[in-house]
Amino acid sequence: MNFPHMIYGGDYNPDQWTEDIWQEDARLMQEAGVNLVSLGIFSWAKLEPQPGVFDFAWLDQLMDLLHAHGISVNLATPTASPPAWMVRLHPEMLPVTAEGVTLWHGSRRHYCPHNPDYHQYATRIAAKLAERYKEHPALVMWHVDNEYGCHVGECFCDNSAAAFRGWLKQRYTSLDKLNFAWGTAFWGQQYGEWEEIPPPRSSPSFPNPTQQLDWARFTSDSWLACFDEQKAVLKAVTPQIPVTTNFMGFHKGIDYVKFASHEDVVSNDNYPDTSDSEWMIQAGMTCDLMRSLGNRRPWILMEQSTTHVNWRQRNATKLPGVMRLGSYQAIARGADGIMFFQWRQSKAGAEKFHSGMYPHIGADSRVWREVKELGNELPKLAPVLSSQVQSDTAILMDWESWWALDLDSKPSNDLRLMPQLMAYYAPLFKRNITVDFAHPETDLSRYKLVIAPNLYLVTDSAAANINHYVENGGTLLMSFFSGIVDENEHIRLGGYPAPFREMVGLVVEEFAPYSETQSNSICTVDDKQFKCGFWSDVIHLENAKALAAFEGDYYAGSPAITCNQFGKGNAFYVGTIPESDGMEWLIEQVCKSASIQPVSMNAPAGVELLQRTNGKSSWLFALNYSAEKVTIPFDGRGRDLLTGANFNESIYLDPTGVAIIQLDDSN
Ligand code: GLA
Repeated sequence: MNFPHMIYGGDYNPDQWTEDIWQEDARLMQEAGVNLVSLGIFSWAKLEPQPGVFDFAWLDQLMDLLHAHGISVNLATPTASPPAWMVRLHPEMLPVTAEGVTLWHGSRRHYCPHNPDYHQYATRIAAKLAERYKEHPALVMWHVDNEYGCHVGECFCDNSAAAFRGWLKQRYTSLDKLNFAWGTAFWGQQYGEWEEIPPPRSSPSFPNPTQQLDWARFTSDSWLACFDEQKAVLKAVTPQIPVTTNFMGFHKGIDYVKFASHEDVVSNDNYPDTSDSEWMIQAGMTCDLMRSLGNRRPWILMEQSTTHVNWRQRNATKLPGVMRLGSYQAIARGADGIMFFQWRQSKAGAEKFHSGMYPHIGADSRVWREVKELGNELPKLAPVLSSQVQSDTAILMDWESWWALDLDSKPSNDLRLMPQLMAYYAPLFKRNITVDFAHPETDLSRYKLVIAPNLYLVTDSAAANINHYVENGGTLLMSFFSGIVDENEHIRLGGYPAPFREMVGLVVEEFAPYSETQSNSICTVDDKQFKCGFWSDVIHLENAKALAAFEGDYYAGSPAITCNQFGKGNAFYVGTIPESDGMEWLIEQVCKSASIQPVSMNAPAGVELLQRTNGKSSWLFALNYSAEKVTIPFDGRGRDLLTGANFNESIYLDPTGVAIIQLDDSN
């Protein structure tokens, strides 16, 4: 991706409007500083009104019109919404749930990712679009499909079952290997023929966990295969045009680490509920994931809302200034583009009450004014383009471990990865410590601190990598129920957490998950007392030192938080979930031990500080989420790109205020 300016725009669905509106759209887009639109995402029925009969005239006209107004196009393959005629001709292309229910035409994403007819039609329309527009000057990016895995995460039809068996044959090569990996000796589930293997359709009790895990891997690979197939078609005709598809944040169904490595640029749709007082933490975490997925290269916020969405039970408006604040948060966390769903608010259909850049009421509106102001302000950020965000801290994130952890029949079925990630991310966010997300098999040596919340499944190479990281001087913070199973979801014997037992210098004898009404507390070596909940590990120290001990229950007095020196590094271990003040204490200890410094010290609450740098220049982003004016101590000097104001010693921000300060010593 190599754009000369910050990207600004949104999904554009002109097929919902008459031609006179198109002219007005182009003029208004110019007025708002729009320079990119995602075009034709759901236009398959209009582009191919009958099988093999194509109508590109309307799209030709739009491509020309947009180009004439200086607006580039992120052209979509419309394959997320197959036309009704396809369903009439090939009803077996419809997805089927685990219970055997068919999901019919009538909304969108009504296709099975394993249907051969669908694939033929999808690659044909992608090829037609590429041929038609390969030389069009407006074309700058391909937007493949839309939100893979949204609405329909998996399909259990017979075609899918056959594809699953094909995938399993490739993975295991023999039934003996599959029977071993799946532990089919348990409950007498052995398979004697490949044909006997079903997808994990509804069954009387807990399905085989390895079957479920392989199903998750297979399903994720299937969506990636859909993308790869179209990408290959597009690249064959337009090798120079970057290809993306829009992600959905921490979407469990698709291994985005694997998927992102197939994309030219990572893009994401983010719809935080800004009526939640901690929305910026959730949104910040998603931004950090996107930056990390693209190996810290700039990414694009492909969709956000200007104000309310339509799909929550109650759809709160974004208060004045909050859309701008969220947009700058994404840029501060590495985005080089801000886009919306959608350009013009629909007047019909399921999303007519979803906000747009241009609202029903028209130009005399708060939303339009905010859209125009932001679009006309963004060009001031040109110097920041392509710069990066540096981080000393990483949280380990592995989709396979997430899938395995979230399966049922565990010591506590309430244990889920996302709240655990958030429990570690939030105190770092509040301290203005920037965090990357890293896969446990990647080189971790760039980080001073690595956090592994509930890394339940680890491969041999991930275990070796993490041990190696600590041995060579890294600081690790690992929480309970980590290193428990291998990639087959088989227990790693040898005392929990077996692959890390020596590194953390302890062994866990038992897991003691709590009932809903139970709680406990811990007392730290510096005599602080914190409540803890949900779970206790019954820990025996081997080499580690206790930093806190449980105060109640049959294991009272045994260690709850520990630290072990291993090689040149330190491994902290947490055998419970301390409440938020306890988490603050813990994060303070590990940050001290790893010499982690926040972007800036002593920032008031409700302020987010981040830095982008390109090696020559650095920019400090200061964002005020609080309802108060704030003064932020600042030990540098610099000039705000947005207002031209010079700051030294202090930065002043109004409520929802933003400053992007080019630091003097970096010129
Ligand atoms: C998703 C989709 C869009 C639209 C928005 C509404 O992100 O990609 O087409 O439905 O949600 O919030």
